[in-house]
Amino acid sequence: MRIVLGVAGGIAAYKAVLLLRLLREQGHSVRVVPTRASLEFVGRATWEALSGQPVTTDVFEDVDQVAHVAVGKTADLVVVAPATADLLARAATGRADDLLTASLLVARCPVLLAPAMHTEMWEHPATSANVATLRGRGVHVLPPAVGRLTGTDSGAGRLPEPEVIAAAALALVHPRGTDLAARRVVVSAGGTREPLDPVRFLGNRSSGRQGVALARTAADRGAHVTLVAANVGSDVLAGVGPGVSVVPVETGEELRHAVRAAAADADVVVMAAAVADYRPADVADAKLKKSGTAPVITLVETTDVLRELVTDPPRPGQVVVGFAAETGDADGSVLDHARAKARRKGADLLVVNPVGDGRGFGTTTNEVTVLDAGGDVVATAAGTKHEVAHAVWDAVVPLVDIRPATPGDAATLRA
Ligand code: CTP
Repeated sequence: MRIVLGVAGGIAAYKAVLLLRLLREQGHSVRVVPTRASLEFVGRATWEALSGQPVTTDVFEDVDQVAHVAVGKTADLVVVAPATADLLARAATGRADDLLTASLLVARCPVLLAPAMHTEMWEHPATSANVATLRGRGVHVLPPAVGRLTGTDSGAGRLPEPEVIAAAALALVHPRGTDLAARRVVVSAGGTREPLDPVRFLGNRSSGRQGVALARTAADRGAHVTLVAANVGSDVLAGVGPGVSVVPVETGEELRHAVRAAAADADVVVMAAAVADYRPADVADAKLKKSGTAPVITLVETTDVLRELVTDPPRPGQVVVGFAAETGDADGSVLDHARAKARRKGADLLVVNPVGDGRGFGTTTNEVTVLDAGGDVVATAAGTKHEVAHAVWDAVVPLVDIRPATPGDAATLRA
């Protein structure tokens, strides 16, 4: 697909670099059209090197190729990130004083603007009116995220994470539809922390990215989503975007209660969190002091939340999905271990991802094999965690569709 990535002059322009990489990694041809002001934040060389295409800001460059018309006309999708207050104003009034605004006037493809600015500017009636005008013309304007802004300020006006913008933009061209509409979905994400004392814990390396992508994509497909987030960093959590209820938890036991409470009226529960298998038997009230002899820490087994969801479902008939991070060893391959786990856990689906050697944890890409309860492969997927998340939902939807919808919802049984 041919994408035009417009970049206006805001500090968040650096995030557009990551957006460009994401779109390129997904195989799209991306022509970057920065405004002149934005080059103060990210230079032309960065855009040219990462896009592999020439970069112009002005209608008086590449005049022989009629760039001011050609760029917008040949695009399948236009994304502007960040869209500053000034860019919104120029787009709303139909100005064409640089290549980006000229391209916006010429484009007949879907257009997504991702605003980023200070809260006061975003909330100003002039900006609100410009956004309303643009939306009235069919331009998609993403609501800005709430969080840290430039300097010490925080509030509404942050540029949404590149994954959120990419998913929203691509959904305009290839809408996946709303095959999870009226469905209630619970996703657990991150890694639990089991305290030893008030300052120390046993934890794991799970970043929560895959779970956050599952929550985001489920919401994009129309579901009501609750994300139970175990120690997910605010930078990763920002990727969840609007419309998802987030329940933060720390320990496995807190996660268990939060998931079961949210699952009471859920159609699907996805356990993407890395839950500790063991926790310290005793938690010291005060910080443990160095005593001269290395302490022996006694661990006790935690409740297997996934297994319990299968044997004692909060709502009978709900679809339960587990995750398994496997390395493979002398006893068997990744798939051998995964097949045994699928049968042992009894979840409707088990999403298996090989980890180790830099794969899986903390990365933005993933590769998975989806097994059914009998251990048979029903799907495989590789790509960004968003793409993998969509592939997981593609496997979940047929199972949800043959079960009754949440009681009380208008949309009930689907064929
Ligand atoms: N899980 C859970 N509760 C636990 C441990 C794990 O719900 N106390 C869930 C995870 O969320 C994941 C799945 O079980 O969906 C697989 O976790 P994993 O740790 O791979 O499974 P284990 O049964 O602990 O297997 P292993 O012996 O490989 O650690």
